[in-house]
Amino acid sequence: MKKSIALLFCTVCLFANSFSQTNDAKMKTFIDALMKKMTLDEKIGQLNLPGSGDIVTGQASNSDIGKKIKEGKVGGLFNIKGVDKISAVQKIAVGESRLKIPLIFGMDVIHGYETVFPIPLGLSCSWDMDLIKKSASIAAHEASADGICWTFSPMVDIARDPRWGRIAEGSGEDPYLGSQIAKAMVQGYQGDHFSKNYNIMACVKHYALYGAAEGGRDYNTTDMSHLRMFNEYLPPYKAAVDAGVGSVMASFNEVDGVPATANKFLLTDVLRKQWGFKGFVVTDYTGINEMVAHGIGDLQTVAARALMAGIDMDMVGESFLTTLKKSLQKGKVTEQQIDFACRKILEAKYKLGLFENPYKYCEEQRAKTEIFTDANLKAARDVAAQTFVLLKNDNAVLPLKKSGTIALIGPLADNKENMPGTWSVAADFSKAVSVIQGLKNVAPDVNILYAKGSNLSSDSLFDVRAGMFGKSFKWDSRSAQQMIDEALEVANKSDVIVAALGESAEMSGESSSRSMINIPDAQEDLLKALVKTGKPVVLVLFTGRPLTLKWEQENVPAILNVWFGGTEAGNAIADVLFGDVNPSGKLTTTFPQNVGQIPLYYNHKNTGRPLEGKWFQKFRSNYLDVSNDPVYPFGFGLSYTTFNYSDIKLSDTLLKGNKTLTASVQLTNTGTRKGKEVVQLYIRDVVGSITRPVKELKGFQKIELNPGETKTISFKITPDDLKFYNADLKYDWEPGEFIIMIGGNSRDVKSASVNWVK
Ligand code: BGC
Repeated sequence: MKKSIALLFCTVCLFANSFSQTNDAKMKTFIDALMKKMTLDEKIGQLNLPGSGDIVTGQASNSDIGKKIKEGKVGGLFNIKGVDKISAVQKIAVGESRLKIPLIFGMDVIHGYETVFPIPLGLSCSWDMDLIKKSASIAAHEASADGICWTFSPMVDIARDPRWGRIAEGSGEDPYLGSQIAKAMVQGYQGDHFSKNYNIMACVKHYALYGAAEGGRDYNTTDMSHLRMFNEYLPPYKAAVDAGVGSVMASFNEVDGVPATANKFLLTDVLRKQWGFKGFVVTDYTGINEMVAHGIGDLQTVAARALMAGIDMDMVGESFLTTLKKSLQKGKVTEQQIDFACRKILEAKYKLGLFENPYKYCEEQRAKTEIFTDANLKAARDVAAQTFVLLKNDNAVLPLKKSGTIALIGPLADNKENMPGTWSVAADFSKAVSVIQGLKNVAPDVNILYAKGSNLSSDSLFDVRAGMFGKSFKWDSRSAQQMIDEALEVANKSDVIVAALGESAEMSGESSSRSMINIPDAQEDLLKALVKTGKPVVLVLFTGRPLTLKWEQENVPAILNVWFGGTEAGNAIADVLFGDVNPSGKLTTTFPQNVGQIPLYYNHKNTGRPLEGKWFQKFRSNYLDVSNDPVYPFGFGLSYTTFNYSDIKLSDTLLKGNKTLTASVQLTNTGTRKGKEVVQLYIRDVVGSITRPVKELKGFQKIELNPGETKTISFKITPDDLKFYNADLKYDWEPGEFIIMIGGNSRDVKSASVNWVK
């Protein structure tokens, strides 16, 4: 829609100036004038974000939603795809509602739009902030070309329980890395400001502590000390706020006995007052209504509590729409709070430039030419290859030769639908590249023999639950033995076996918790049969969470963890398998030996009886039946080359006050290929007024070295890096001894000690 036509529909835009010329005062004047004209119902209407239903272009005006929009009862809509549909509903808002206030359009653009990037847990394993920022920026560019101006991302929930399916949507277990990624994602989506046409407004979620659900069961209770909350779980949300995120989504879980959606401490005391958040807060999907089941009141009560706690927009449940007026009459909420929330929504629309041009994101030409472009696909392929983690590579099985015969086996080998991974709302699955296609593209001279080998699991009902949203695996009715026999026949004709196994895309993500986190049984049986052949086996492992891989680590020669790599997964996997790209991903979550060890994370406390030396020791903190070690520690990942770390050199061993310490190592590429290494800095605060973790990530650098090349890698450390929230929740550092550690993962580090006095 052309701007001139847009203006006809928008009388309020006469008051608006372009955001770039304006400032807060101008925005305030504009919104004051608009709000003066608004009735209470219209104000409450702005707080309503209903489910979009099935909006059919041409009939939008007569739909239920259309009616509500005309009545000024809708502030925005989400997960509608396509400029035609979006402009049709926007036209109702700015053409047929009394005050012609434009709608805001959101979507779960979580890891790409139509061009899908790896799932966020995979992206985090790149440890490359520029790359992550670029993926978010491409996602914003595509989404903004298709009518979307608001994304429900980044998801920054710290997760230390791999049973929780939504661990796939975040950046793992570490608050420092999680904070860096939160910032990079917000900057990627919003650019220098989300008022620009190619940028969209981000929404950090799920505030707060959603990743700490008891037992890893989704939506479950969380309960933790404020010390843990502030030191370990809140930092990434704060980092997003500091980076200027435009909106925040409240989480489903309770915190301190009050659901986050009605939690004044979280939403007002911390978010608004301590952190100075200026944007708006939206609930999660029916988050207010669910507080009835949480048991804190009837719908009217919980809606009033949500508003008074600091919620500005109600997603799907329409509880604000149906109860706030009554609550105001009864004195349960204040007009001031309704005004505050309404103002926040209008400010976001103003900043997005929607008052000036409600069709700003609806240029058909952009939708035709700027989505799923060759350049974006290339970027998706490059990014995906950086997220794969090489877990094992005995006898240099990898990289593979681009000749000979490969047996490609497994239910994920010839499957497009599952490549994008969970939450790929805008994707066309048929356009994703499967492993078999990728192998053929990259190594056309290789003879590829394919067999499915097994179903996803041995239970057809499980396979249905694990294959929702158009990602189903066709159930193969042959017996497990018949399928394995076919696979072995193929395997026996090959030089090397590539087994594409693991989870389906929907085995992680929302409401996809698992009590066992192994490779599903049917595939495990298949893998064991393949290993038994004695041929070299490469496990290409698909997963949205850490899995228990003890047997695999002990028995399979090579393991490449590829998460869910997005649209270009198959090509990127082939790039790495054949050595066109040297893998450099490093884990951002600990991989436990078994479920009983969970939670298992690198930055734990020491306890009064730590296990020192070998397992087992009576009266020490350990188990009778399993050691405390993970299969793979946080930060771990191999390469086709090898790296050597020298001892640490410190610029000083006694520091005073605000000095800067430089800690450096010499890093040498001791192998025969060019490769990238993520050099990680950890610090331990040996004695504190409260107990401190055994180590905490405080810095990292991704370095590329040629074979034989050595570089000095230096980290600058200041007292800011030593700060933590103490028992009074004061953020400060304490003098004493600090152990500085540098290495290629959280377990294998060099260390040196300094004393730092105030
Ligand atoms: C999820 C959110 C998502 C929302 C909107 C909810 O079920 O928890 O992460 O943004 O739906 O689709």
